[in-house]
Amino acid sequence: MKHLIDILDLSVEELQELIDTAKDIISNPAKYSEKCKGKKLATLFFEPSTRTRLSFEAAMMELGGNVLGFSEAQSSSASKGESVSDTVKIVSCYADIIAMRHPKEGAPLVASMRADVPVINAGDGGHNHPTQTLADLLTIVREKGRLDNMTVGFCGDLKFGRTVHSLIGALSRYENINYVLISPEELKLPEYIKDEMLIKKGANFKEVTDLEGVIPELDVLYMTRVQRERFFNEADYIRLKDSYVLTLPKLESAKSDLSILHPLPRVNEISVAVDDDPRACYFRQALNGKYMRMALILKLLEVK
Ligand code: CP
Repeated sequence: MKHLIDILDLSVEELQELIDTAKDIISNPAKYSEKCKGKKLATLFFEPSTRTRLSFEAAMMELGGNVLGFSEAQSSSASKGESVSDTVKIVSCYADIIAMRHPKEGAPLVASMRADVPVINAGDGGHNHPTQTLADLLTIVREKGRLDNMTVGFCGDLKFGRTVHSLIGALSRYENINYVLISPEELKLPEYIKDEMLIKKGANFKEVTDLEGVIPELDVLYMTRVQRERFFNEADYIRLKDSYVLTLPKLESAKSDLSILHPLPRVNEISVAVDDDPRACYFRQALNGKYMRMALILKLLEVK
């Protein structure tokens, strides 16, 4: 039985297989409409979500399956003290596959050790978010036609940004990616990720604090939110939250084929005026997430 806890659980060949399946789903949705008939997806969300939970549920519905679950810890028996291990052991009796989001790093890994069905990490604290990375990869492929030979800027909260951690892990396996890491000093990429994914692999990267100075170099700009929920101190959040605000004037020096991604939700870091710029890909990215989650469900349930 296979789980998806970390994006590195999938080989480059498996990522390509998921991308190919997602593209086929986009072209031939009717072919897939009954592939998961009789199957159930449980969405166990101990932390808020709009895109990930609803796109997982839409994905299973569009495959002809059913969904059950909860969207906050308070409405589950976790509020009575039940452990993650016991929760997934029980849910394994009711569902064929589980997507779990949890504020504690490592909780989905613990769940995968106890569950009797495949477990998908739908985001664990400030650690990883592999299915967001699947959405990001399909978006980059559809927008740029490749996953190699490009300069990618990551901007905002690179310390707690789980989507950044997972996407850097995925891209570290493709050829000739240049990384521009744009963050305040306090929100720099964790050293362990820099060591494992960039330095040990001989990747070309630089760390800067200024966005405008590097915009002209970028093929992809991955904006992120400074996440209030990850701070212990409200004053630090207030001080850092508006470190970067992408506006149309700042994009004047950018490449005409720049792709602007953001995992969303957005707060203030991309002006709404940017939404109408053809380089803004973030709403298409959210839709791509549904197709990749459909492909992932098919793979983990071993549906041909
Ligand atoms: N990108 C993302 O994980 O969004 P949600 O928190 O709305 O699921």
